[in-house]
Amino acid sequence: MKNQNNNKNPKFNIQNPKSKIKNKNIVYHPHKITKSDRSKIKGHKPCVLWFTGFSGSGKSTIANALEEILNRKGYHTYLLDGDNIRHGLNKDLGFSIEDRKENIRRIAEVAKLFVDAGLIVITAFISPFKEERDFARSLVEEDEFIEVFVDTPLSVCEQRDPKGLYKKARQGKIKNFTGIDSPYEAPESPEVHIRTDELTVQESVEKIITYLREKKII
Ligand code: ADX
Repeated sequence: MKNQNNNKNPKFNIQNPKSKIKNKNIVYHPHKITKSDRSKIKGHKPCVLWFTGFSGSGKSTIANALEEILNRKGYHTYLLDGDNIRHGLNKDLGFSIEDRKENIRRIAEVAKLFVDAGLIVITAFISPFKEERDFARSLVEEDEFIEVFVDTPLSVCEQRDPKGLYKKARQGKIKNFTGIDSPYEAPESPEVHIRTDELTVQESVEKIITYLREKKII
C-alpha cells in the first residue's frame, strides 16, 4: 500500500524533524514495529479527520455520530474533543492566541502518535488559525490528513448558544471568544466541507464516510 511504511521516511518518522528539542542529549530510538505493521492488523488505513468550526457549529455532535458508526462497523477510532482535552492534557491552557496555538500543537502531536498507532483519529477543536491546522497537516502524510470544515454561520451558532457562552461573551464576561473578539480563519479548501444548513447530522456523517471510502481509507 502506498505511503504505508513511514518509518522509512524520515519526514514522517515519529520523530518530528522540525521540532526543536530542549536537551541535545536525547537520541531518537527507531522502533521495530512500524505504522505499516500496526495498520495491517486493523483493516483500514490510519488518518486524522480534523474538524474545525465555531463553537456550537456541531463539530462534537457530528464527530460523535461519525465515531459511533465507524466503531459499529469495526474500525478503530479515537475522538479527541476540545472541551474534554481541556479537562486533562490541556487543562493548563486558556484562550489567548498563544494558548490556542499550544492547544493545537499538542493535539496535532497526539493525533500524529495515534495515526502512528494505526487509528482513525477524529479531532474536534475550533482550531481557528490556518497556520496551526497546517502544522497539524504537516505532521502526517498528505493523504492522511482530512480537514473537515463544519461550516455553520456565526449567527446560527450564536442563536443556538448551547452552553450560554456567546451570551456571556457579548456581555463581556468571557474574553477572546472566537467569532466575537477573537478571529476565526475559515479553511479555504477543506477535504470535506459540511454546510450544516444543508445537511442533517446523519447526512454529514454519510458525506464523511463516502469520502473515506472513495479514498480507500475504509
Ligand atoms: S481552540 O480555539 O483552542 O481550538 P477548543 O476547541 O480547544 O478551542 O475549545 C473550545 C471550547 O471551549 C468551546 O466549544 C467552548 O465550549 C469553550 N470556550 C470557553 N471559552 C472560550 C473562548 N474564549 N473561545 C472559544 N471557546 C471557548
